Amino acid sequence: MNKINNLFKNKINQQIPIWFLRQAGRHIPEYYSIRSRAKNFIDFCLNEELIVESTKLPLKYYDLDAAIVFSDILMIPWAMNRNVKFTKNVGPTMDPMLPDETKIIKNINIPLLLKPLENSIKTLRRDLPPSICLIGFSGAPWTLACYMIEGQSSKDFINTRKAIWGSYIWFQELIETLVIYITDKLEIQAKAGADVLMIFDSWSHMIPNNFFKDFAIDPIAKIISLLRSRNINIPVIGFPFKSGGSLIKYSYESNVDCVALDWTVNLSWALESINPSIAIQGNLDPASLIPKHNPFLRENVESILKKMKDRKFIFNVGHGLTPESRIDSVKQVIEIIKEFEI
Ligand code: CP3
Repeated sequence: MNKINNLFKNKINQQIPIWFLRQAGRHIPEYYSIRSRAKNFIDFCLNEELIVESTKLPLKYYDLDAAIVFSDILMIPWAMNRNVKFTKNVGPTMDPMLPDETKIIKNINIPLLLKPLENSIKTLRRDLPPSICLIGFSGAPWTLACYMIEGQSSKDFINTRKAIWGSYIWFQELIETLVIYITDKLEIQAKAGADVLMIFDSWSHMIPNNFFKDFAIDPIAKIISLLRSRNINIPVIGFPFKSGGSLIKYSYESNVDCVALDWTVNLSWALESINPSIAIQGNLDPASLIPKHNPFLRENVESILKKMKDRKFIFNVGHGLTPESRIDSVKQVIEIIKEFEI
């Protein structure tokens, strides 16, 4: 059994478990040679050999407690035929959906289209030692709807917000359809051998406040209840990025087993406010791993550990590692955690 699943079973660990969001990405030099073996990023995410290799890559460098399967949240829009492309220096793009006009395609066979993901998880679970927790993931309905309506990233997701107010029925149908596809994607990952699931809501802070429950909390609760009804009982980590005070309601009502906190969250506030029966993951600022010399690094990591030592806690960054993250700094953080006695 691995430390992360132990924590969810209330078993005492000697050390706080640790992994990093986006640990398999662009801050590791070999990532680029793996990526260059695929024609494009979608093919990369559909190639079992490359998925397995890139998922294992960070474990060659770091003593981590988890591996997150290499894929992308935009594989659901891809499966929905939105013409998803990842362009260098532009980021992901796709055909934008027009509220009330674009037909929302039902009955897409997610397990069939994402077979390589399922097969890779089977291989990874066989290859990795049992001490490594294998994490499967998906985007949240709101965040996927954001990309699908805008067709790309955006500073304010104004078209998506406009769709809530002006095309409510259509928007609700999109969210409900995504709930099904996301559940299917999480289900195949769990059945293939994932030990924990994570749901990324990267744009939850764009939701108009009065709709936060409707679009950030209720769809997650629905996904989790569907998973449980399909006999999938592994822990789910929710990540409502930068949602501030709404984290409290999210922690009580979304039914996640763990809430991941971004780097803006004050941990003393979180300890007082977040549902005490669920675990917390987070929340080192990933930017603190970029400078060659960061005199605050040790003190900051130790302060997180001291605050969280009596809580079910998984050490992580408060958002993905950036390409500029220094391998030495990541190693230093891991060492500090391993030295820390609970
Ligand atoms: O290390 C890992 O965690 C591997 C798996 C992973 C990727 N994307 C691979 C990837 C995970 C968990 C994701 C999640 C993801 N993808 C999110 C949620 C987390 C977050 O950052 O908020 C989002 C919003 C996406 C959508 C996405 N995919 C964007 C905006 C981009 C381009 C810009 C960026 O931030 O990297 C991607 C491409 C992508 N997905 C890359 C990787 C390693 C970089 C591709 C490359 O240039 O090689």
